[in-house]
Order: sequence, then C-alpha cells, then structure tokens
Amino acid sequence: MTAGERGPALVLDGAAVDRGGRRIWSHGSLTVPGGAAVVVIGPNGSGKTTLLEVVLGTCPLAEGRVTVLGEPPRRGNPRIGYVPQHYAATVGDAVRARDLVALGLTGTRWGLGRLRPDERARVDAALDAVGAAEFADRRMARLSGGQQQRVAIAQALVGDPDLLLLDEPLAHLDVRHQQEIVDVLRGIHQEREVTVLVVAHDLNPLLPVLTAGVYLVDGHPHYAEIGDVVDEELLTHLYGARVKVVRTAQGDLFMRSG
Ligand SMILES: Nc1ncnc2c1ncn2[C@@H]1O[C@H](COP(=O)(O)OP(=O)(O)OP(=O)(O)O)[C@@H](O)[C@H]1O
Ligand SMILES: [Mg+2]
Repeated sequence: MTAGERGPALVLDGAAVDRGGRRIWSHGSLTVPGGAAVVVIGPNGSGKTTLLEVVLGTCPLAEGRVTVLGEPPRRGNPRIGYVPQHYAATVGDAVRARDLVALGLTGTRWGLGRLRPDERARVDAALDAVGAAEFADRRMARLSGGQQQRVAIAQALVGDPDLLLLDEPLAHLDVRHQQEIVDVLRGIHQEREVTVLVVAHDLNPLLPVLTAGVYLVDGHPHYAEIGDVVDEELLTHLYGARVKVVRTAQGDLFMRSG
C-alpha cells in the first residue's frame, strides 16, 4: 500500500478522558494522517502519555470515539510499537540488548536460542535500523542512556509496526545523543511506512523529522501541520512562558525562550 492509499493512523471524535475522577482532556476531534511524523506537546500533566494510552487501548475514553489504524483501539495490537516514558529505567539491568529486542517480537519468550531463523533476522534488522548492532550482546546496564534508548526503539520496531509511539525518547540525553536518536527516527520514518507519534518537550531537535503536531492546550488536544505548531503565540500560551520563533537564513525554524 502506498502512503496515498493509507487511511488515517488516528481519529479522535469528541474524545474526552477522565483519570482519578478528574477530566484530563476533552473535545478531542482530530485526524492524524497515515505516514505523518507527529510531535505530541503540552505541559507536564496535560495528558500526553494519556493520549498514547488511549491509542494503545489501555485508557478508555469517557466520551467520544477513537479509531486507531481504522479499528477501535485494542490492547496488545501488534500493529503498534511503543516505547514508554522512562522505559530503559524499568528494564532489568541484566537483560541483554538483543534479548530485549526479541521480547518485542515474541512477547513472552526469552533468549535467542528459542527464536526461529526468520525471527532472528528481524531482530538483527531492527538492531541495524537503530545502529545498535555493535552493542547488541551487551547487558542493558552496560549501555549509555542513548544506547539504551536505541535498543528500546528497536524493540518497538521489531514487529514492523504501522504506528510507532515514543514517549519522551530524548529525555535525559545530551545534545549529541539527542541528535543521534533524531537521526535514527528520521531513517525509520523515511525507510518504513510507519506513522510516528513522539512526545517531547523541546521541539527543536525533532524539527527535521516532524510533519505535524498534536498540542494539548487548555485541556483540549489539537492537530496542526508543523509550520502552524511552531508559532510564537501558540507555544507561549502552551508552555506558559515566553517563546520566540526564529527563522534562519536557510529557512530553518526553531524556538527559544525569552
Ligand atoms: N493511572 C492513572 N491514574 C490516575 N491518574 C493518572 C494516571 N495516569 C496519569 N494520571 C493523571 O493524569 C494526568 C495526565 O497525566 P499524563 O501522564 O498523561 O501527563 P503527561 O502530559 O504525559 O505529563 P508529563 O509531561 O509529566 O509526562 C495527570 O494529572 C496524572 O496525574
Ligand atoms: Mg508523560
């Protein structure tokens, strides 16, 4: 199927979510087209992770409807790859990178010994796609934060998903390692027919990859093309702090505070 024939990756229609007896966001009506690379932005606690959980079918709507890849959301949908927020910190230190990636394919089985040859090949391909082949046999505890994040992305990618959800994959990484993850995401987005939803606080490093944004402002999610998201008034309102949008001579946009 080509990108043009692909249906929307996500449709919200009058969607609202409650958690702990509180409305988190409401009036969500938006369509994320298949093949988009979308940043999800909003202040802490605005419900970005909650939105991913709605897509994953682990958080039900209080109102409205949601359609994911043309179907109602369902837990364990193999068409979705997911890297949770703080994922690497929750993984056992002793697990080898390659085995963690294999887990994304098999769900329950551990150890490469039990993988079929075609499964092994898919694990290798996912490790290659994120540039993790050279440290694939090391234990997670022996890897840097940037390397751990690559392995986590490989695990989400190994099932060849149509939709990839990444919750703050750049958190706690220095500028160079952020750049490496962005390069990995760019490669994945260009080479695979995958829609990417990535939660982030800083848009700048991701701008070369992004086509659009979902922004959570005043308790409502909205979708816009990336050029309309990188807007001084919108970002200043969204972050509650003065944000300036700067355009370089090359035409690149970026935002900065103050
Ligand atoms: N399992 C839960 N039960 C009850 N309340 C929850 C649950 N998960 C999240 N919340 C609440 O829902 C709100 C939105 O949380 P969520 O984690 O989606 O925000 P976020 O935008 O991802 O924040 P952050 O930027 O800090 O990651 C918060 O007020 C949070 O306390
Ligand atoms: Mg979150």
